[in-house]
Amino acid sequence: MARLQGIRIKNFRALADVAVGQVKYASGDTLPGMACFIGPNGSGKSSLMDVFGFISQCLSDGVEAACDHPARGGFDRLRTQGCAGPVEFELFFDAGDAERPIVYALAIDQVSGVPAVLRESLRQRRRGETRGKPYYFLKLEKGKGKVWAGAYDVSIDSKKAERVKLADATQLGIATLGNLDKHPRIVTVREYIEEWYLSYFVPDAARELQATGAQRWLDRRGSNVGNVLQYYQRQYPKQFGQILKDVARAIPGLKKIEPKPSEDNRLLIRFDEAGYKDPFYQQSMSDGTLKMLAYAVLLADPKPRPFIGIEEPENGLYVQLIEQLARRLVAHAEDKKTRTQVLVTTHSPYFVDALKPEQVWLIEKGPDGCARVTRTTEFQAVREMVDQGIPLGSLWYSRHFGGLASS
Ligand SMILES: Nc1ncnc2c1ncn2[C@@H]1O[C@H](COP(=O)(O)OP(=O)(O)OP(=O)(O)O)[C@@H](O)[C@H]1O
Ligand SMILES: [Mg+2]
Repeated sequence: MARLQGIRIKNFRALADVAVGQVKYASGDTLPGMACFIGPNGSGKSSLMDVFGFISQCLSDGVEAACDHPARGGFDRLRTQGCAGPVEFELFFDAGDAERPIVYALAIDQVSGVPAVLRESLRQRRRGETRGKPYYFLKLEKGKGKVWAGAYDVSIDSKKAERVKLADATQLGIATLGNLDKHPRIVTVREYIEEWYLSYFVPDAARELQATGAQRWLDRRGSNVGNVLQYYQRQYPKQFGQILKDVARAIPGLKKIEPKPSEDNRLLIRFDEAGYKDPFYQQSMSDGTLKMLAYAVLLADPKPRPFIGIEEPENGLYVQLIEQLARRLVAHAEDKKTRTQVLVTTHSPYFVDALKPEQVWLIEKGPDGCARVTRTTEFQAVREMVDQGIPLGSLWYSRHFGGLASS
């Protein structure tokens, strides 16, 4: 499963020029399995998370639709105010060969008033090399350029290049070429981005009654959590048992959860609680219970996502549960079998208490209004205090770093 090693972002909202993880080819610290972003309101955490939502929507719906999404409000609002250049991303990821990461670069700008792909490229080191620069195997400018087919060919052999011209400059090249068998590496990149899961869980969405029927994937709002539960109940009894255990551990008194079709074939989720003869259904369950259920369903997936992004997972959770959830997410991210990467933003010191300085980045706005990102390992005093056993979240809360401490 592919793994993100680092990302560079330019001109995306408050992120005028930001790099996280390894952004120099195959050198430096890569992003760990769990990466958590903290910082004041308006510093750029949601913008960072939305970079992933934006790229994945560029892939599924095209660049124009992704810019015009109501939450983004068009290209002019998206580009960093006062900057004239394109919005740019560079993603470094290990697609199974750590010596030869793949670099996906994307630049988006307005062309004749419409947001379009200005440049798009993919690079990788040549086969058998553990040193040396990466060579292009896709290079497009305004929809025209070259692609090198197969699993190994690169731009050093220009005779092998095939010229391509895309019909629609608002669609990504990886969307089109990533469907062709002869471009297995581009297929890998497309599939990897398509498998990202960005959680926008809304408890009320989980309360909506869905038609009965098992569903494989949890949607981003969690509205089909009962259908996915039904799928596990039928196909993966072990995972189903694990989900119940996870939620019961978090919510005192909860004895049993079960998907139940109603007479009119809608899907109810039945909750049995200690002290009550009659069951409850999702409409009467608390926000936190539904949220824990959605996370348990997400983490039980026998075919885990390579990448999960969650904004402020602590919202609506009891304090004791926050650290427990953080530990559960870290365990998931560090599990060698799942190899899922988890990116989180949080305002909760309890969440951060469960993390190591290597897993936490502080985002703050500089005097120029642009976001600066600092890994908390860079605060030496913080590292020393964590080594002495003081939890990282409490250091943050007591202003040993960030806010007043750094100003
Ligand atoms: N086009 C832009 N250019 C420069 N800065 C922008 C642009 N669009 C938004 N911003 C800034 O980014 C801020 C929003 O950032 P974001 O939503 O990522 O913050 P956050 O860290 O998630 O905050 P919170 O903790 O409140 O959720 C805005 O308050 C604004 O200052
Ligand atoms: Mg935010």
